[in-house]
Amino acid sequence: MRNLLSIDHLDKDIISSLLVKAGELTKNIDVSLDNKQYIANLFYENSTRTRVSFEVAANQLGMKVINFDALSSSEQKGEEILDTLKTLHAMGIHCFVVRHSKEGLVRELSNELKTAAFINAGDGTACHPTQTLTDLFTILQEKSLSSKLRVVILGDIKHSRVANSLISGLSMMGINDICLSAPSVFMPENTSGLQVEENINKALDGADVIVTLRVQKERIKSTLDNMFAEYSKLYCLDENKLAKAKSDVIVMHPGPMNRGIEIASSVADGKHSVILKQVRNSIFVRMAVLKYVFS
Ligand code: CP
Repeated sequence: MRNLLSIDHLDKDIISSLLVKAGELTKNIDVSLDNKQYIANLFYENSTRTRVSFEVAANQLGMKVINFDALSSSEQKGEEILDTLKTLHAMGIHCFVVRHSKEGLVRELSNELKTAAFINAGDGTACHPTQTLTDLFTILQEKSLSSKLRVVILGDIKHSRVANSLISGLSMMGINDICLSAPSVFMPENTSGLQVEENINKALDGADVIVTLRVQKERIKSTLDNMFAEYSKLYCLDENKLAKAKSDVIVMHPGPMNRGIEIASSVADGKHSVILKQVRNSIFVRMAVLKYVFS
């Protein structure tokens, strides 16, 4: 069994083979696991897409899924997360899909419980590797993963594990024309090797792919609350701004969306949007990830 802890733990060949496998799974090729297994979803932060798509993906492969509910578990009586995992592992659960607000926790747990496999479903602002694989697969389907692509990442990049992982994933696949556009308050400290353009209209010029990111209210100091109206005035991706990009641009968003803040409904639901394709693709990508982990 193998872990999937971050994009940086993978390499270009592994990413490529996961994307090929996801493509085969869209055609119903190799849709099963020889060894029927349990996985447990442990989500200590809210989730719709990641948790449900892992459940659907595992079910499609004939696996059994336990949706662990931390709020009704013995962790409420003081049990530590590692003891919870050891308890579930002793019951025969060998793979844990974990989302947690603490950066690096999934890696720490995998070091403590080496006989189980761990999939990082998002840790703090650090990583979201299966979202990145989903995004790369969607770009591959829509555009191909060409080094000529211009990818513009918009929004709350600083607090986004999606952006962190995606920037690594794009670079590993040879896509280096990556432009970050956000007000300084949403810009990460380390932008080395990346283009930074605060002016969104300039950033979008010639874009092939636009990745819009959610403004992460839960990770932002309450003193910044009153900036959302100003932010949406300048940065909300609407049809006027979209017109700066190439005519065949695709618009992505990992979800959940704040309509009217980072993306206008006319764009989210418009002809350039591949947002629901990303959701659909996430099933095939997570099936490929489960096959990788159990191989
Ligand atoms: N993209 C993403 O991780 O969505 P959820 O928070 O709904 O899982």
